[in-house]
Parts: sequence; C-alpha cells; structure tokens
Amino acid sequence: MKMTAITERLSGLGGSKWEVHIKARKLVASGADIVEMTIGEPDVPLPAELADAAAAAIRSGRTGYSDGRGEINLRKSLAERYSVSRDRPFGPENFLCFPGTQTALFAVLLGVAQEGDDVLVGDPMYATYEGVVRATGADMVPVPLRPEHGFRMQADDIAARITPKTSALLLTTPHNPTGSVLTKKDIESICSLAVEHDFWIISDEVYEHLIFEGTNFVSPLWFPAFADRVVAVSSISKSHAAPGFRSGWCVGPQAFCDRLLPLAETMLFGNQPFIADMTEMAVRDGSSVAEGMCHRFAARAALLADRLEQETGLKVHRPEAGMFALVNVATTGMDGESYAMDLLANGGVAVMPGTSFGKGLGSWVRVALTISDADFETALDRIVHHANALTRKSA
Ligand SMILES: Cc1ncc(COP(=O)(O)O)c(C=O)c1O
Repeated sequence: MKMTAITERLSGLGGSKWEVHIKARKLVASGADIVEMTIGEPDVPLPAELADAAAAAIRSGRTGYSDGRGEINLRKSLAERYSVSRDRPFGPENFLCFPGTQTALFAVLLGVAQEGDDVLVGDPMYATYEGVVRATGADMVPVPLRPEHGFRMQADDIAARITPKTSALLLTTPHNPTGSVLTKKDIESICSLAVEHDFWIISDEVYEHLIFEGTNFVSPLWFPAFADRVVAVSSISKSHAAPGFRSGWCVGPQAFCDRLLPLAETMLFGNQPFIADMTEMAVRDGSSVAEGMCHRFAARAALLADRLEQETGLKVHRPEAGMFALVNVATTGMDGESYAMDLLANGGVAVMPGTSFGKGLGSWVRVALTISDADFETALDRIVHHANALTRKSA
C-alpha cells in the first residue's frame, strides 16, 4: 500500500503509551473492580445553559457556512476577553477558530515548523505533542523539565538546545502532566531567548481556568515586547466542561493569522455557527463550573500527597493546576511502567506510567484527580495498601 511520509512519521505513536489504560478498560468490561485514574475529563457535565444555547442556535437556523476565520460574534467576544485578561488590545483579526486546542496546535505548528526545523518541547509533555511536531516534518527536541525546579522549564535548559534550526518552542502553562505553572520571571527569560534567536513561542493555555488557589497564571501574551512572536492556543474543553464540542482557537499577531488563514480554510473553513454562539456565551459569561473543579482537584491532590507521604514511601509532586498529580514510585524499586502494571494487577487501581509523557518520568506515574471523592478515597486506600505490601515483600 503506497501512502505518504506523514503517515509513516506518525505511525507507532500512541498505542503502547495507553497500554495500562486499555488493559484497565478491558478488565472493567469483564467485571473486575478497578478504580480508573488514567485519563482525566471534567468531572461535571456541560452546564445546562450552554447546552440550551447550542440547541437554541441549531433551532434558529445557525447551521450555515461560517467565516473562514470563525464566526465574528465569537471572535469579538474572545477579543474583549483577551484584551482584559492580557491587559493589551486584541481584535477579532487576532483570532482563528478551530475544533479544539488540538486542531489549533496542529495548524499553528504547520505554520511555524517544517522539515529541517527543530521544535523545542518540554519533557514530560502532553501525549499528542510528539505527533503534532512530527506531522510538520520538523524534529522534536525535548527540553527536560526537572522536578527540582518544580517541573518548570528553565531558560538554561532551552539555551543549551537552541540551534539555527530552532523554529519554535512549545510551552504548556498550566502544564499537563506536571500541573506546574510558569512564573512571570520564567516567561520573561524564556521569551527573551525567542527574541534573541528568532523563534516562535507557541503557548498551550488550555488549563488557564483550572489554577489552584495561591498560584497566579501568567501568559506570554501579556508582554508587548514578545507580542509579535507569541501564538497561544486554547478552548472551552476544560474551562466549561465541554470537550466534545471541539471549540477552540489560536490567538496571535494579525499578520500571523492572516498568513495562516488559507491553511485554516483549506482544513476547515470556519467553525459551526451554533457552536460559535454557545462558545461566545461561554467566553462572555465566564465559567460556572471551573471554580468547583479547581477546589475539588486541589483538595484531592492535597489528600493524595498527605496520605502517600504519611503512610507510604511514595512521593507526590503537588500540582498547582489542572487535573493530574505525579507520584514518584522510586522507593518501590520499580520503574513507573512496572509499578503501574503491578498496581493494576494486584492493587485494583489504574494509573498512567510517567514514560507515556516523556523519557524524563521513568520513576513516576500520573494520577487523574477527576474521579468522585468516594472513588478517590477507595483508590488511595488501595494504593497505600499495595505500597506497604510491596515494602513488606522487599524487606
Ligand atoms: C495540554 C493539553 N493541550 C491540549 C489538549 C486538547 O484540548 P482540546 O480538547 O481543546 O483539543 C489537552 C487535553 O487533555 C491537553 O491536556
């Protein structure tokens, strides 16, 4: 079968990363008692007012073709929100609408990277990033995110990997899977390198509204000095518990959006007007569910850290945002993959091996904070019991 180089570059991605998750799903389907903490989705349904807005828009005939950039009402609403939250002026021409952050990332990366280029990406990283970079033909260059720096990307680690081939740096703040949030100082030093060496900063900000109390969100979009080289991507998937609507956007310099438009039109030709209307409402009115998610996820992360640290030798990296926490399992003598398989087989809990998100997390597993409090307590009891059984076995 003759197929193209892009299918070759993307082949083999994904599959093995999800082995524990797929195994857990099969066990659950066969009736096994497993608490699943592998993937995270908002733990509340789509707010009723947004479901009503989408349904009303469909009924009122908002089902025609859209503007290639996305519906103007939504882009105006986004411009207002970003002008306030980033404290500098944005207009509708600074936005292109896409079906979710994922597609926005795909299109934006195609606009800034190609064969022969390097794209710098923090390691660990969100599971689809490698594919997004590889799809462009560019090489992905991992930048280690170190636990001793709270997994926040450090300018020195970037500087050591910059070459004349570097065309872009993909930032994630708040970060999945580490839950870290970059500080103003981090962003200033990272973006200064982009200016000095002339590369793009692509900022994935999909978790912006899931920041825990005590942490401040800083976007590279804030700084006028970097405005001509920063493009951010986001969506309502996390903030409004609406991942299935696939409603996202990119925001960046008008010249960038103008140049990317033909690509966006070739892929999609705008968004669905009824989804745009519902998203406009979401963006204009803010979220009725984000605050609750932040409280619940932060409380579960704290409980996880307190219990594992008091009752086992496992160490938890306390997240500042998002839906996940990382647990270091080095004291069990196992790597993250063996631990996750053992916990599934002998402990009745499914977690993701850290290596599914990058080579740097060999001794870690990722735990989703999105299951109910009751299931979370059950999972914690089981993890504690399993860890202590391992310690007794090796003693
Ligand atoms: C860091 C990160 N970026 C992007 C996405 C995809 O978001 P969307 O649903 O907006 O495509 C996710 C989803 O989990 C994510 O964790």
